[in-house]
Amino acid sequence: MNTFQNTLDFARQLDTEDPLKSFRERFHFPTFHDKPTRYFTGNSLGLQPKSTRKYVLEELDAWEKYGVEGHFHGKRPWFAYHENLTEWTAEIVGALPIEVVVTHSLTTNLHLLMVSFYQPKGKRTKILCEAKAFPSDQYALESQVRFHGLNPQEQIVEIAPRTNELLIREEDIYAKIKELGDELALVMIGGVNYYTGQLFDMEKITTLGHEVGAIVGFDLAHAAGNINLHLHEWGVDFAAWCGYKYLNSSPGGVSGMFVHERHANNTELPRFAGWWGHDKEKRFLMEPGFHPMAGAEGWQLSNAPVLGMAAHLASLELFHEAGMDRIGAKRDLLTAYMAFIIDDLSTRNNDRVSFEIITPSDKTKRGAQLSIMAKGQGRKLFDALSAEGVIADWREPNVIRVAPAPLYNSFEDCYWFGQLLEKAIQ
Ligand SMILES: Cc1ncc(COP(=O)(O)O)c(C=O)c1O
Repeated sequence: MNTFQNTLDFARQLDTEDPLKSFRERFHFPTFHDKPTRYFTGNSLGLQPKSTRKYVLEELDAWEKYGVEGHFHGKRPWFAYHENLTEWTAEIVGALPIEVVVTHSLTTNLHLLMVSFYQPKGKRTKILCEAKAFPSDQYALESQVRFHGLNPQEQIVEIAPRTNELLIREEDIYAKIKELGDELALVMIGGVNYYTGQLFDMEKITTLGHEVGAIVGFDLAHAAGNINLHLHEWGVDFAAWCGYKYLNSSPGGVSGMFVHERHANNTELPRFAGWWGHDKEKRFLMEPGFHPMAGAEGWQLSNAPVLGMAAHLASLELFHEAGMDRIGAKRDLLTAYMAFIIDDLSTRNNDRVSFEIITPSDKTKRGAQLSIMAKGQGRKLFDALSAEGVIADWREPNVIRVAPAPLYNSFEDCYWFGQLLEKAIQ
């Protein structure tokens, strides 16, 4: 299928041909190891763009110089700071500007959106989600169901992989949507599964969900900045994602939400309101009576955490410059090369170890992340790998997750990952 080679020269050749190669220089790589670090955890916390400091310092300077007047003075007045992030965010998730806003954190946003979009009524009360969703999503879904006085055990329907399988079969999702039919109130699935890296067909899930009259939302924590998304075109009702993984927006950094244009002016939707979602022109009149802004901005609660947003803006600028098309093209090649390296070393060492990549091999069914099951191995292997300067992620009982990020990882990084993993199994 491919003509890859597991050699340093070959990896360097791919780097030479990489149209995004110059972006690597625009990030800080951790230096805490006494060896060069090989960073593969952009799916957990993205690296710091070198421009982040400048953006954050600009706001510290504005605060120093203007105090509270910084809301209305300076290069980017804080009153409307979040607006600086809107267009570039819309580009990343395939949305219209009115459909996105950067605010709060991921779980908060999921709750705010579900308060509006999970409206159990009559027999339409059920939520469909993936089994073993990220725990925060599970807690959020359960508490939303309880909030309506219902029993999560009865209302939450989980789709799991079949017996002895690791991935969810998409046909099982489709069949379950049809089976639940008019009992289905909401489909809420992670666009990319955090554990396996499996990417779901969000367009198809949305279409089928709508066919039975359900609302469809996605947690895009592992998809935003990773997958080429077209949320508007796909007709997704709502989505939320965090900014700190592929989007490099700082630890716990601000996150995003999407509300489809068709809901933009629906003032009938129940929502938990706050003053930052109130009509911008009248916000400071401090009048009673909440009038939501049109679109996603109407879900904002509080005034912008400007320092976090400044960090996010620095990274969004890089995404804008690189463009999601080029990022997606590099992602596919880089991930395929990483998969090749892992398969190659697994084959050559099959008398001792076996590494099975549980992430789908089809590039349309995955993003940057590869989840590698190290059969018969334990944490000791991972610790040995870490001691070599590899920053990856370990999930019990035996899965190593790596996510070469197209903006800052190189093909040479992947080559070294293979070399160091091979060393660690010795
Ligand atoms: C899929 C998924 N959902 C939810 C969360 C929770 O995010 P937050 O702590 O920003 O609310 C995470 C965090 O890693 C995640 O990966």
